[in-house]
Amino acid sequence: MALTVLSCGSRNEDIPVYLDKTKDIEARVQDALSRMTTEEKVAILHAQSKFSSAGVPRLGIPEVWCTDGPHGIRPEVLWDEWDQAGWTNDSCTAFPALSCLAATWDREMSLLYGRCIGEEARYRKKDVLLGPGVNICRTPLNGRNFEYMGEDPYLAGEMVVPYVKGVQENNVAACVKHFAVNNQETLRTGTNSNVDDRTLYEIYLPAFKAAVQKGGAWAIMGSYNLYNGQFNCHNKKLLQDILKGEWGFDGVVVSDWGGARDDDEAAAYGLDMEYGTWTNGLTGAASDGYSNYHLARPYLERLRDGRAGEEGLNDKASRVLRLIFRTNMNAETKWGRFTCPEHYQAARDIAAAGTVLLKNEGALPLRVPQGGKIAVIGENAVKKMVVGGGSSNLKTRYEINPLEALEEAFAGKAGVVWERGYVGDISTSYNLVDTGQDLSDDRSPETLIADAVAVARDADCVIFIGGLNKSSGQDNEGTDRKSLEMPYAQQDVIEALAAVTPKLIVVNISGSPVSMPWAGKADAIVQGWYGGTESGHALVDVLTGAVNPSGKLPFTIPCSLEDIPLKTARQYPGIREEGKQYMQEYYDEGVFIGYRWYDTKGPGPQFAFGHGLSYTTFEIAPVKASGRDFAVKVTNTGEREGAEVVQMYIAPAECPVERPAKELKGFEKVRLAPGESRTVHFKVSDEDLAYFDADKHCWVAYKGDYQVLVGVSSDDVRASFPLSLSKTVEI
Ligand code: GLC
Repeated sequence: MALTVLSCGSRNEDIPVYLDKTKDIEARVQDALSRMTTEEKVAILHAQSKFSSAGVPRLGIPEVWCTDGPHGIRPEVLWDEWDQAGWTNDSCTAFPALSCLAATWDREMSLLYGRCIGEEARYRKKDVLLGPGVNICRTPLNGRNFEYMGEDPYLAGEMVVPYVKGVQENNVAACVKHFAVNNQETLRTGTNSNVDDRTLYEIYLPAFKAAVQKGGAWAIMGSYNLYNGQFNCHNKKLLQDILKGEWGFDGVVVSDWGGARDDDEAAAYGLDMEYGTWTNGLTGAASDGYSNYHLARPYLERLRDGRAGEEGLNDKASRVLRLIFRTNMNAETKWGRFTCPEHYQAARDIAAAGTVLLKNEGALPLRVPQGGKIAVIGENAVKKMVVGGGSSNLKTRYEINPLEALEEAFAGKAGVVWERGYVGDISTSYNLVDTGQDLSDDRSPETLIADAVAVARDADCVIFIGGLNKSSGQDNEGTDRKSLEMPYAQQDVIEALAAVTPKLIVVNISGSPVSMPWAGKADAIVQGWYGGTESGHALVDVLTGAVNPSGKLPFTIPCSLEDIPLKTARQYPGIREEGKQYMQEYYDEGVFIGYRWYDTKGPGPQFAFGHGLSYTTFEIAPVKASGRDFAVKVTNTGEREGAEVVQMYIAPAECPVERPAKELKGFEKVRLAPGESRTVHFKVSDEDLAYFDADKHCWVAYKGDYQVLVGVSSDDVRASFPLSLSKTVEI
């Protein structure tokens, strides 16, 4: 039977402009807007369910679906609940935590990451990915450092841009969060961040600015806290003056879930899409509050009685329509991919590339005689960590833990014996996602240590795998840590093992810095991360040498909590002040956080920002500088292929303000064969030399003599070049 193709009989001129994929987005936006009623415009500005907002059914404009999170596509929840919907097709690829991605210092890896997670979001028919997060690691205690990209605004800015581009290639909006000066979880919805303008512009805004201006981010999420006394989901200075004004942001501002707090401000100060109101973003809900959302009935009332204008409504609605035409109504259809071998491989490669070799006196890479014995000690060798941590919690088909990967790698070659060593967090489920493990253990701490020492005593190599986890008070949304130390008395285990093991290997798995007073007793120390689905394989790839470690610390590891720049309750976690409703937190340390503090005013750290070793060695030699082009020759002087991250810092000239001893302004990761050399060039701009002058409200490159420092970490400079600026430049 011949197939009769029904002709739709329509020609381009009959298709409404907003539906015509040959028309440019702005024309489609304006045409759609012109066809919409006031009620329809308001309806697309706020949630209709936990993670979706309305489209315009009458015009065939689809709903907008959002999904967490920065590390993978959150399992489906019920329409109006935080609980799992119980789908059986939403087990995703869990990619490494973003602190691991930052530790790769590899822009190509970030692009790969964004492309893969964007494909997974698209395949799951999600239009907005609620990530990445780029809040600066101001305190090592912040419960969400694992979701962010470290302590330096330049590194975070350089690493967020490719991620955003990769996501958005899939017609999925990256929603960069949490904007802004949101650097703790303690009282996150009731703390006012008091920050001077210079600190704001030099430290806490640059990564967001890069995401918007270089990455072209289509969405920004306002944060829970207040800044300048206004909630950030409708903060005039941050959203209207800076984000949409100074930076020219043309996307949507999305509230954090429950971050919108006021009818008038939500209408007036830059909020475009309101979600999760009256929840804390993790639990709880106001039953069917949607019609009462700040941008719902209250906004309609303000439009009708003149307290709010049509112009503001059209600006909000245009931004949402632009989001829709960039995503689910994009002229170019994308389909995405989900849990494919390439995504698993990418997760493994990124996790390995972010693994940081902090110390190695010869114990690594592992060398175990045929038939030898490997003793593996520690809960983090087995505990599956994709589950938990808050909104970035994920459900995956599998997660390879380090013990499984070691057993796999040494099958038929050596015995692998595991002992717990300590009991940390035996929970295995979060938000109804369960790893299925049984982590119960009723042995006493003394017995646990004795049992661990017993298997270590005669082992050919001993690997302690511990650190933090995703439970409350650890690396966990909604809570901060109280201490910098490894929890659960892990130090006792490490000390006991070191007493019987001359070449102890310690792997710290965490998303934040932990203090390492035991560092002198370990032959080798590895900073591992929440590596996602393939975390165990990635770690063992590095331990065995299948992958030569090339990760660098995205944050400083201090010797102790006393050394950090936050010395007072006023600085952190904030103080109550007479007559003020919310906690007040003062960023008195100014720009002096992270290595900016330790290099300039603080004590030396345990391990420095940018530090990371390799199984090969590299030589950095200065090459003659010309003008503002500074170059070094990097040579792999070892026996095996490897990658080095060459970092360029600027040491400032004398100027009217106090400045950090050095600031990161460039880096390149170069992969070299044994004996191979490559010249790496850094061009230094006036912007690279500048500080932010709050009084002039502009950047100032002050005349004087600077130093261009090139090295392999913030505390290992291998070449320095003088740079003189003959006159002050205002930018
Ligand atoms: C949470 C988080 C945010 C997340 C959102 C939706 O509270 O702060 O990062 O994307 O709510 O789960």
